[in-house]
Amino acid sequence: MQETLKKLQEEALQKIEVASDLKELNDVRVAYLGKKGPITEVLRGMGKLSAEERPKMGALANEVRAAIGGSIEKKQAQLEEAAVAAKLAKEKIDVTLPGYTVKAGNPHPLTKIIEEIEDLFIGMGYEVAEGPEVEQDYYNFEALNLPKGHPARDMQDSFYITEETLMRTHTSPVQVRTMLNHDGKGPVKIICPGKVYRRDNDDATHSHQFMQIEGLVVDKNIAMSDLSGTLEVFAKKMFGEDRMIRLRPSFFPFTEPSVEVDISCKICAGKGCNVCKGTGYIEVLGAGMVHPNVLKMAGFDPEVYSGFAFGMGVERIAMLKYGIDDIRHFYSNDIRFLKQFDRYEGQ
Ligand code: DAH
Repeated sequence: MQETLKKLQEEALQKIEVASDLKELNDVRVAYLGKKGPITEVLRGMGKLSAEERPKMGALANEVRAAIGGSIEKKQAQLEEAAVAAKLAKEKIDVTLPGYTVKAGNPHPLTKIIEEIEDLFIGMGYEVAEGPEVEQDYYNFEALNLPKGHPARDMQDSFYITEETLMRTHTSPVQVRTMLNHDGKGPVKIICPGKVYRRDNDDATHSHQFMQIEGLVVDKNIAMSDLSGTLEVFAKKMFGEDRMIRLRPSFFPFTEPSVEVDISCKICAGKGCNVCKGTGYIEVLGAGMVHPNVLKMAGFDPEVYSGFAFGMGVERIAMLKYGIDDIRHFYSNDIRFLKQFDRYEGQ
């Protein structure tokens, strides 16, 4: 019996020694120290021993148990430590690896153009003014010398909400609102960027919603030459110092005289080519001297004050500046289009 116990101990210690993980070690524990294990078996046979031998065998059996148990504990600590070390080694972070680049967004091309134009005019002493997109018929039309039934209202097909309210068709009502806030006293120098709405069918050059920038200067002795000088600075800063402007007579109910402003064609420098359809110039905006009726309705004395105004489509400016052939690109959110206006790449 003594020998059997010694042999079991040896066997068990050897298995503990070679156990390569915690599961294997536990199997050894169950096999040798468990209720159905060989040591328990040996102890069961103790009844057959003499009273003298019994305590000796008992003590030996306990020694063997303790030896195996102690060895298992030691091995378990080793294996646990090794497991932690292995886990740490596996989870090691290489801080020298290059990181993933997260692409930063960039301003929409229209936002960029608006900011550029704002900065330009702010530099010339203008303030930025805003007005509501849901506008009263009075400010959108009537106060701009377009009474109800005026045929020129047809130039701007409108989304009416009620008989007296509509989605503004242009940014010109901001002129009226700003002048009214000035209580008939100049100077007024503003630009007003914003969304406008028209009942147009969307195609390459039309959109039912687009952006405009309005400009207005009202003071004493403002002349047409102030308008053309200002727009010349604008054209050169936006499109290049070599560009020239040309004013053509036109008609808007809120200006008198009214002009259409063209810039010289980038391709042919005014000589005439395919892009400008042989004219040498490309139309960019509408402008004129503020109509005396508009000044009067906004509380300014047209005998004392005069002013000029202009209005431009931001998409049109962007299309000319960047050579974009379809207005719908601005609203389709196609990343391939937008990417070209990245702060760092493109243009
Ligand atoms: N409001 C005009 C439009 O949307 C553009 C315009 C023309 C504005 C002449 C002006 C101006 O201020 O003087 O068609």
